[in-house]
Amino acid sequence: MRIDIVTIFPAFFDVLDVSLIGKARDRGILDLHVHDLRDWTHDRHRTVDDTPYGGGAGMVMKPEPWGEALDAVLSPDAVLLVPSPAGERFTQAMARELAAEQQLVFACGRYEGIDQRVVDHYAERGRVRLVSLGDYVLNGGEVAAMAVIEAVSRLIPGVVGNPDSLVEESHEDGLLEYPSYTKPAVWRGIEVPPVLLSGNHAAIAAWRREQSLERTKRHRPDLLP
Ligand code: ADE
Repeated sequence: MRIDIVTIFPAFFDVLDVSLIGKARDRGILDLHVHDLRDWTHDRHRTVDDTPYGGGAGMVMKPEPWGEALDAVLSPDAVLLVPSPAGERFTQAMARELAAEQQLVFACGRYEGIDQRVVDHYAERGRVRLVSLGDYVLNGGEVAAMAVIEAVSRLIPGVVGNPDSLVEESHEDGLLEYPSYTKPAVWRGIEVPPVLLSGNHAAIAAWRREQSLERTKRHRPDLLP
């Protein structure tokens, strides 16, 4: 998969050199490119924002640099992702859909967002999705893009070493994941649930299922039918 990110803060994405994503890049599974939006400005101050029409607080990102940047990086079959608190909620199901794409392009806005005509223009020519991480406001799209990139790229075959570890995770079956334990069997007087030491696979599976349901009921009742 190819991923392009357009941002005024390319340094935000330096961490994509490390961990599983860094390895996937080294191995050629992920082809990731970070672009500085200001490279598509033409004035001395490399201006990317201006005051909003209609008045109000804050600044809006100008359409011209975005147009040039996106014309340069979008291929015809790409999905343009615009992180925004006004977008559709990002979910594991969306991560799965996106993991099957050839190219994802992230347009990371700052300030009060990007001039709406940019989204409208590219929505007429291809696929555009506004994506929200959740019901809170970040300073810009960079952290949201990073979260989406991590959730999507770990679903691409070969990125996570053991594919079995993807199967039993939170949200994959619509429930939260059960709690996990490792050695020692007793730590600070707290024992690992005995069923996990029993070797009885059916009993372990049943206990995990029950724990998943219990956790989901307590923390995310909205996920239950
Ligand atoms: N940009 C600002 N807030 C955001 C959010 N909650 N999700 C995605 N992008 C954002």
